[in-house]
Parts: sequence; C-alpha cells; structure tokens
Amino acid sequence: MRASADRIRLDIETIAGCSASGPGIDRLTFTPEYWAAVDYVAGQMGALGYERKTTVHGNTRFRREGSEWAEPAVAVGSHLDAVPHGGRFDGVAGVVAGVEIARLLADQDDALGRPFEVIVFAEEEGARFGSVLTGSKAFAGRLSDCELAQLKDADGTSYLEAFAESSDSAATAVSGVVGAGDVASYFELHIEQSVVLETARAAIGIVQAIVGLRQYRVVYSGTANHAGATPMRLRKDSLAAAARAIVSVEELSTGATVGTVGMLVSEPNAANVIPGRTLFSVDLRDTDPLALQAVGDAVLKRIRDIAEERQLQAEVKMTAESAPVVLFPRLRDSLRCSAETLGIHYLEMPSGAAHDAQEMAGVTEAAMVFVPSIGGRSHCPEEDTPYEAIALGVDVLLGAVRAAGGPPGGGREGSAGGCAASTQGVQ
Ligand code: GLV
Ligand code: MN
Ligand code: MN
Repeated sequence: MRASADRIRLDIETIAGCSASGPGIDRLTFTPEYWAAVDYVAGQMGALGYERKTTVHGNTRFRREGSEWAEPAVAVGSHLDAVPHGGRFDGVAGVVAGVEIARLLADQDDALGRPFEVIVFAEEEGARFGSVLTGSKAFAGRLSDCELAQLKDADGTSYLEAFAESSDSAATAVSGVVGAGDVASYFELHIEQSVVLETARAAIGIVQAIVGLRQYRVVYSGTANHAGATPMRLRKDSLAAAARAIVSVEELSTGATVGTVGMLVSEPNAANVIPGRTLFSVDLRDTDPLALQAVGDAVLKRIRDIAEERQLQAEVKMTAESAPVVLFPRLRDSLRCSAETLGIHYLEMPSGAAHDAQEMAGVTEAAMVFVPSIGGRSHCPEEDTPYEAIALGVDVLLGAVRAAGGPPGGGREGSAGGCAASTQGVQ
C-alpha cells in the first residue's frame, strides 16, 4: 500500500484554507485559523480511531494504541503555524505525512506493535511569540512554565494566556513533557527549503544533522528629534545605528555560517522624525558549534561597539538558542533501508532550517526525511512541492515507522529485512 498524492493534496489544500486573508499563508499559533487547521487534522485522526490530547503547553497529540506494547510510542510530527505570508507546505507536509501514515496503517488493519502518535507542535516558527521551536522545546522539558509565561506577542498577550483564551481544550490539557520512555522514535518529514535535492534530482533527503542557531532581539534607544532642525553631529539616530549593525551581521557571517536580520521596527517611523528607538532581530546558524559561537560573539561585540560609538543604549536579549544536532544513526539507517527497498533516489544532507526534530533528538531517537522544494523557495507564498514527491517521502517514512514499531532493538528492522551499508544514494 503506497501513500496517496490525492489525499495529501486534499489535506494540504484544506489546511491552506485555514489562513487569514492576504498573500500566502497567515496562521499564527493559537489564532482561530490555527485551531481550524488543528481541528481538521483532528477530524481525520478521529475518523481513524485516534484519541486527541492537548498538552498544557499547547501541543496536540493524536494516539492509537499498539497491538503488543503499551509504550513507548513511535511518533511522527511537525507544526501547523506559519511565518507571516508563508507557504502551504512548511510544517504542514510533516503533519499530513503523519495523518497519511495513520491512514495506511488503518487501511492495512495492521496497527504497529507499539502505539503510534501524530504530534502537532505549537509555535515552531516563533512568528507570534518571538521564539522558535517553543512547543517542542517545552515537550522536551527544555522550557519551564516560567520561561513560557515570559513569552509575549506584539500585543503583550503571553503564550500561556493566548493558549488558555483560544482553546476549549486548555482547561482539560494533559501534562506534555516527554521522555524516551513515552516516545521511542520520532520521525519528521519536511520540505527541504533549498535546492540541494532539486539540483541533484534526488527524490528524498535523509537528514544527517540540523544546524544550531542563536536568535537575538536588539533594541537601540537614541533620541527622537526634528529631522530638519537637528544638526548631524547632535543626533542619536537609532535606525542609522541599526543599519550599521545589519551590514555587520552580513559581513561577519563568513564560512558556512548564515546570518539574517529579518525583523526591523523603527519608531516613530515618520519621514520628518529622527528615529528614537529601533528594534531588530538577528538570526545566526551553523552546523559547527565553535563557528556559531565565534560569529555570535563577534556580532554581539559589534552591536555593542556601534551603540558606544554613537552614544546610544543597546539592549540585547537572546530569544532562542539551540546546539547543532546529529540525528540518530539507527533511524537514518532505517530510512536508507526503506528508500533502497522502494528504489527511491536519496541523498544524505544537513538541514539549514530549524525543526521540531532537533528538540525531540534531545530526549529520544529522532530522524528526518526531506522532500524537494521547487526552486528552493520557502517562507514565502511561492513555496511549492509536488504532492507526488510528498507521497514518496511518506512511503519512505512508513517503512522506517513500521521498523521502529516492532520489538525493542529491531526484529522488524527495515522493511527489506536487512539492507546493505549506506551509499550516497541509489537510482
Ligand atoms: C523555521 O523554519 C526556522 O528554521 O527558523
Ligand atoms: Mn519554517
Ligand atoms: Mn518548518
């Protein structure tokens, strides 16, 4: 039984309909559009006999018991929140992959030996509350309730308040910190968000490692004043300082490190007023932790030096930090084995994007499958992946899920009953 591109298309198009109006997808965590998407998934999973549980941190788990063991579960997950004016596939493809696997297991009337779960992690993008991977970090026990309570959106509503106010399930939410005893293996399918697979004409990417990241929120406070009457030497222009800092982020991001300033708010944002306060984000990523640290330190020093040179106040807050993560070799072997059995051309590759799998890798075995992004576009309305390509990814994932759903330590290892040592892809 193979995954159905038509069912996947219907799921993704329906979830794309759960979006505020405007170009691309707008679905911030805990908004009505967000819960409409979760409810659609709940409808599909409920029809297959899965139980829905919402965790106190706002994640949603769908679970069916296994035929032999009460725990730990095999889980497939990702997220349904989107960046502003984002695409239809980021996160959604991974949740829908879980739904399609649940259907395939149900169609075969063949539950795994272990429980199977589909998990929807909240606030992966950090687009509403300013911190990436929020739900999965809390799930992995790396974010306390106190830290969660400090996360606020642009209107000052905290993460936990927004959850409580928006969801019927908040009152009945279950504890949601997970360990390897609860989830034995976590898999995530995701669009690649770059051009590596497309360029190599590979159908699947098996992710070796995920970049580490550091995100900062910087506020320069200067003095708002009259744009015409204030001589240049008397200005404390916070936006001009931010402009210098933004160029420095680009200049200091050398080697494999990537650096981005994607958010900038200048106040009062008027043509004839010298900007008194400017807020901007810094996002730095690398798979090499030492390089990430070196660039991070250099960028922070430069941000502070610019403030000092211009006699401004600089407030710098780290809003997210994660170390680079190597994904679990046994599950990667299992994915390779599944791809080889199906004759699907794969590549092994790193991920430049952050994923919920990197938080899950801190508490259990985790692995990821990438499917190609057309033209490498992502985090924009043009984001696209053929539904048939996602279906192939689901087929590969299903083989590894079935292997992981067997007895502890293997037994049903790989759907081929044993695969040769890895090579860099097969035709
Ligand atoms: C999420 O998409 C991220 O990589 O920031
Ligand atoms: Mn994303
Ligand atoms: Mn994503």
